[in-house]
Amino acid sequence: MEKLVITGGHPLAGRVRVAGAKNAVLPLMAAALMVEGETVLEDVPALEDVSTMLQVLAHLGTETHYGAPGRLHLTSPAKGEGEVAAPYDVVRRMRASFLVLGPLLACRGRAEVPLPGGCAIGGRPVDLHLKGLAALGAEVSLTQGMIRARAKRLTGAHIYLDFPSVGATENILMAASLAHGETVIENAASEPEVVDLANFLCAAGARIRGAGTGVIRVNGVSGLRGLRHTVIPDRIEAGTFMAAAAITGGSVTVENIVYEHLKPVAAKLTEMGCAVELSDAGDAIRVTATGTLKATDVKTLPYPGFPTDMQSPFLALLTQARGTGVVTETVFENRFLAVPELKRLGANIRAEGRTAVVEGRTPLAGAEVTAPDLRGGAALVLAGLAAEGETSVTRLEHLDRGYERLAEKLVGLGAQVKRVNVTNV
Ligand code: UD1
Repeated sequence: MEKLVITGGHPLAGRVRVAGAKNAVLPLMAAALMVEGETVLEDVPALEDVSTMLQVLAHLGTETHYGAPGRLHLTSPAKGEGEVAAPYDVVRRMRASFLVLGPLLACRGRAEVPLPGGCAIGGRPVDLHLKGLAALGAEVSLTQGMIRARAKRLTGAHIYLDFPSVGATENILMAASLAHGETVIENAASEPEVVDLANFLCAAGARIRGAGTGVIRVNGVSGLRGLRHTVIPDRIEAGTFMAAAAITGGSVTVENIVYEHLKPVAAKLTEMGCAVELSDAGDAIRVTATGTLKATDVKTLPYPGFPTDMQSPFLALLTQARGTGVVTETVFENRFLAVPELKRLGANIRAEGRTAVVEGRTPLAGAEVTAPDLRGGAALVLAGLAAEGETSVTRLEHLDRGYERLAEKLVGLGAQVKRVNVTNV
């Protein structure tokens, strides 16, 4: 077991490049199941979640290798061929493995996928995925924790999502790409990662309009051909480094960004008193703390609202802001798992239901804390960077799911962070 040992109190400075987006690359890898010929993905982040998806795909018969760091080659079995059951011991580790359901159904006519695991941030049902696929003509059943779906040929349909679920939109989008006729997804998710998937599918020959809006129209095609695609930058990793600059009173330039994707986070940091500047080329953003941070309220919403994945990092940030900040989580019902751990560092936070009230500014003092989930872990690292003395963060497997070389990147910005083996300390 390993832990991060952080000695806080050092303002971060310098430049850091963010990797390709975790939440974009996972659906792209699933979509490679439907592609005839080779798929090449560029800027693939080195993450545990990517390794997990590679294991799922290997089980389903996809051959993969890295041609260079970050360049992933994938070749899947021909249409109608290959395994249709995803392995339970891998799927339970990561909810995004459920994204193979739509592609398997579309290109092999059958799929067996266990109900997924992943971060413990609420019930996270898959009813919208299943309703959508059923509307396309799939017979779907749940037995012994396993979703079984089959369809001779999927047929386009009009689908209204009760909530703009990212995963459901992606599963339906992939399946509809090979369905017969037109599919309309209403109240679709408009997250950049959905748009990246649609762009990938279109480059492979799919016919999709409206991705990035609430209404997506898909005209099914008979097959998808091999392609090369660069994964969009990770807006949550970028947001985490922007928050790290702010919480340490530093100045950090984050490279490889799409400003449009970062607007909700940039707006909040500006409100809190940071200077946020975009490079002339528009592909880098500098965040500079200019004195004591001011508290603000944060409400998570589907894109283009404030991202739920940045909510925990902002809880940490608000502990160092003057005044009271109210954080409202509207996307997930149980996403304040970092609060008890932040309190161990000295935070004054009251969380009840979907609201957390953060009283600032409280001095933080280093302590031993446990990452409760991926983004909660990021919040603890941020708090550790601002705390006096030494903070140890354990359960790094959560952080490794979604942050590539986090300790190394922070050290590059002047942080004192060590990754150590627990048995050696
Ligand atoms: C994706 C992201 C995750 C992010 C989330 C919201 C990936 C791999 N993960 O997760 O990092 O936090 O979007 O931006 O892309 N819901 C249902 N029924 C369903 C599906 C979802 O009720 O069938 C609910 C969920 O319980 C949750 C809300 O919808 O309350 C949003 O979930 P969803 O957008 O589906 O998130 P994920 O795709 O799982």
